[in-house]
Amino acid sequence: MGPMESMKVVVVGTGYVGLTTGVTLAYLGHRVIGVDKDPEKLKRLRAGKSPIHEAGVQELLASLGERLAFTGRLSEAVGQADVILIAVGTPSKQNGEADTRYVEAAAREVAEGLLPGRAYCLVIKSTVPIGANRRVAHVMERILTERGVKAEVRIASNPEFLREGMALYDSFYPDRIVVGALDAEAVETVRRLYRPILEQTFEPPAFLPRPGGYGPPPLITTDPTSAEMIKYAANAFLALKISFINEIAGLCEKVGADVTEVARGIGLDSRIGARFLKAGLGWGGSCFPKDTAALIAVGQEYSYELPIVEAARTVNSRQRQRAVEKLQVALKGVRGRTIGILGLAFKPGTDDVRESPALDVIRLLLERGAHVRAHDPVALANARAALADMHGVSGEEWEVEFLEDPYQLADGADALVLATEWGEYRNLNLERLARLMRTPVFVDGRNLFAPEAVRRAGFTYLGVGR
Ligand code: UGA
Repeated sequence: MGPMESMKVVVVGTGYVGLTTGVTLAYLGHRVIGVDKDPEKLKRLRAGKSPIHEAGVQELLASLGERLAFTGRLSEAVGQADVILIAVGTPSKQNGEADTRYVEAAAREVAEGLLPGRAYCLVIKSTVPIGANRRVAHVMERILTERGVKAEVRIASNPEFLREGMALYDSFYPDRIVVGALDAEAVETVRRLYRPILEQTFEPPAFLPRPGGYGPPPLITTDPTSAEMIKYAANAFLALKISFINEIAGLCEKVGADVTEVARGIGLDSRIGARFLKAGLGWGGSCFPKDTAALIAVGQEYSYELPIVEAARTVNSRQRQRAVEKLQVALKGVRGRTIGILGLAFKPGTDDVRESPALDVIRLLLERGAHVRAHDPVALANARAALADMHGVSGEEWEVEFLEDPYQLADGADALVLATEWGEYRNLNLERLARLMRTPVFVDGRNLFAPEAVRRAGFTYLGVGR
């Protein structure tokens, strides 16, 4: 294999996926232009500041120099590109369907900027409903014909499997790379793009050493429709794995078993696997909720029900309700009680609160007349925005107190609910917390603590499934 070939890459969209991918590709030696419509974001990015809270992104951004630039003008940027990656959002529509309007708008703008006589590879990274590849191809072709421009566009579907908070790690050390394309050239281009990752020939960033035992990831080449399905099926499976253990957790509580032991016991069966078996308040974030809904919506288009995926969603929302029910039992009702929520992000390592279990629990508590206080190490501002202008059905004002100190949260409170398993919560002085509270009740919504330790500190401990 010769030295790495530097390619000219345009990444459309600088959200989690687009920014991480852009930063990664530039680090590998490609020349990357990130495109975004949001002038505020562009300003930050150009100043070397990451608009998202994602480990390592900030550090790499600042170190890439000219290899990574940003612009708001998509059509101008794409002319000289070899590869164009579409990584814009596909939010949920009312009926759960993924909305591809931004993907199509991006495709249209790309087509406006392509130059005659050149060949391009258009890579779709956004999570798109089945068949979206065909639609994008059609949109592009129509515009090129209208413009009378003969340019070659090869389309590939390249879904991403990045976890928020671990996005750079997952891009440098993926389990696999999937590319779905109808022609071999597109596959070759994507292979060239990721070659240093596929062969693991890059020098790892200082803060992201290559994990021991990690070998080069396989490249899965398939057709575009299967690639799109791989993405949805992967997320649906992970979501239902969590819902499965949560369902078992509820039964563990009834019969007196400990779900963390059960998860360990079944996870060691290599056919099952240990990961994504943590019982708790359930899954949130921008992917599992949206992608399971979108998969069900795809099924509906074909009058095909997906009862297993639906059940995973039902169990997931029940997890939030069950936590609130535990409080109702422990406190003999939550009306007028003061409940402190520890953690607002949908998981640790991110300031993202989209579909966060914590916010669902807060809403359920407010509906039942509780007074709510909340703490998070990084997501306070986002949570405040997400919960702003929220009010009860009869229009009454709902208010959440956002506090920067967990001990202030506990002061005079009736219960604490740990909703996000932030590492720093492990260092909380539990005795001090308990002493500050009116009634020391601790709902450990992520099974972060050893029950005994919390009880010894003076709390009534209520975990999930133990
Ligand atoms: C998820 C997938 O893990 C990625 O592979 C995928 O690329 C991404 O969606 C996407 O489609 O873009 P992400 O949403 O960032 O990534 O977060 P996860 O780490 O998967 O966690 C999702 C939710 O499940 C979190 O709320 C987390 O707290 C919860 N979870 C996870 C559990 O409740 N139990 C577990 O054992 C694991």
